[in-house]
Amino acid sequence: MTPNSDWGCLIRLTNTGETFRCSNDRHLLAGMEQLGRKGIPVGCRNGGCGVCKVRVVEGQVERRKMSRAVIAAEEEQEGYALACRVYPLTDLQVDVVGRMARTVEAGLSESNKEI
Ligand code: FES
Repeated sequence: MTPNSDWGCLIRLTNTGETFRCSNDRHLLAGMEQLGRKGIPVGCRNGGCGVCKVRVVEGQVERRKMSRAVIAAEEEQEGYALACRVYPLTDLQVDVVGRMARTVEAGLSESNKEI
């Protein structure tokens, strides 16, 4: 994918195999909301509550300030991040972890679509 492409980066959720597009001026949480899941937790959207925790398995992201109370430095080195504070720079593979994982995985039986 070319940065700043009109179509955005291709994001694949390893939990469900679903994919969606996210431009690099939108954070991953906003991109995930395109999947139309009911029950995606509404958190602080500011890197402080940890509800949107993910692990970037493959690809590059721009990371913005995240609370150390919810993402330890060691976790960050292992790829953990907060979806509301990361912006895709390349195509990504992402594990959804924590509270949001249940919502994402619950939707698998409802749909398996590419947006
Ligand atoms: S929504 Fe609170 S850390 Fe992302």
